[in-house]
Amino acid sequence: MFVSDNAKVNSAGNLEFSGVDTVALAQKYGTPLYVTSLDGVKASCAEFTAALEKHYGGRGMILYASKANCNTAICKAVSSSGFGLDVVSGGELYTALKAKVNPAKICFHGNNKTDSELRFAIESGVGRIFADSMSELDDIEAIAAETGKKVKVLVRANPGVEASTHEYIMTGQVDSKFGLSIEKGDALAGVLKALASEHIELAGIDCHIGSQIFEVLPFEDEAEMLMRFLVDIRELTGVTLQELNIGGGFGVRYVPSDDPLSADMIIGAVAARVKRFCAESGFPEPFLMFEPGRAIVANNGITLYTVGCVKEIEGVRNYVSIDGGMFDNPRYALYKARYTACVANRADRPADYSAAIAGKCCESGDLIGKDITIQRPERGDVLAVFTTGAYNYSMSSNYNRNPRPAMVVIENGEDRLAIRRETYADIAAFDEE
Ligand SMILES: Cc1ncc(COP(=O)(O)O)c(C=O)c1O
Repeated sequence: MFVSDNAKVNSAGNLEFSGVDTVALAQKYGTPLYVTSLDGVKASCAEFTAALEKHYGGRGMILYASKANCNTAICKAVSSSGFGLDVVSGGELYTALKAKVNPAKICFHGNNKTDSELRFAIESGVGRIFADSMSELDDIEAIAAETGKKVKVLVRANPGVEASTHEYIMTGQVDSKFGLSIEKGDALAGVLKALASEHIELAGIDCHIGSQIFEVLPFEDEAEMLMRFLVDIRELTGVTLQELNIGGGFGVRYVPSDDPLSADMIIGAVAARVKRFCAESGFPEPFLMFEPGRAIVANNGITLYTVGCVKEIEGVRNYVSIDGGMFDNPRYALYKARYTACVANRADRPADYSAAIAGKCCESGDLIGKDITIQRPERGDVLAVFTTGAYNYSMSSNYNRNPRPAMVVIENGEDRLAIRRETYADIAAFDEE
């Protein structure tokens, strides 16, 4: 009935999420409210870990791409599940360290890391830096030399794989701001530079072809292209690089027609292709990394809102306005993302009312969706939007000087406040008097 496995209707007729009544959550913490099931997050982590164990003897590491939703509660939950962490900024690194994630299991990504971010990462002892450009390799070498450290690096290679997804979340094609192109010879130049750098230990190659991908073939093809590249490097330099990061991008179900791959299917297919390639080429099987973000958190999150104005434009459209919008979830405004929703206090009633769910910001594009079917709502109802665990909180803003919502987490069936609601004073805290 719902796109999320964590959701059901309870005996009071209300929407229950991860075992907790969402109407009670809205009353207790106010709205808008992000709700994240850490129980669900840990279960998702366990699926990836089990798949790596089953298909590849556990010879690798799963990293949570923290850009999907970065805060101390989630960092703790994924690291206690045995995951490493992918961070892409000084802020994400700071959060991971605050959550006491082992720095050796943190990997630092990003297409334009600043010098101060690189210094922060190297001084904190992060396990790996994924280098995105030639100039970044120079910077890493210089900062590592200054600090007297040797830094483990993977070069981000761009394999020229075009995954079928929105162009804003496609990253593996040649015309991209990310990585060094294999086809153009830039990736090889990066590898040679890294090998010649005294303070860089080049461990391997990393890649990420895009996000919200529902087919397994692009990942298999990506893995094989990267393996071929590793063979070329060995032939040219005599060096056998041993680490291969496939990236993330595994699709999730936002609407019933989405048909996501399971962790078992993705890792099973990639591991099989890598093993076959290695058997045929005589190349040793590499340490394999995967970097899911969305697949770990998206369906383990919902957002609760209070319904305000309900406007019915005869013969045109119904508008249901909520007390949130693009400041807590900009994904419709960014790329027309699709969602499902439910009136949490009428969850046992038929969903037969079609409406645009509109935010409270001063933009016509400030919608959660243009055509979402829910129970007929009234002002004061609680509206739950599903699958908001990824790229909502992490992309939120203070647009129109709206305070960011609080986040409640559910762990072992108990709810607690993980991020407190911003106040107006927080928003103006850095302004002059
Ligand atoms: C390098 C890298 N790894 C992993 C991810 C996570 O992608 P997803 O959340 O779709 O799994 C991203 C997303 O942009 C990324 O850029």
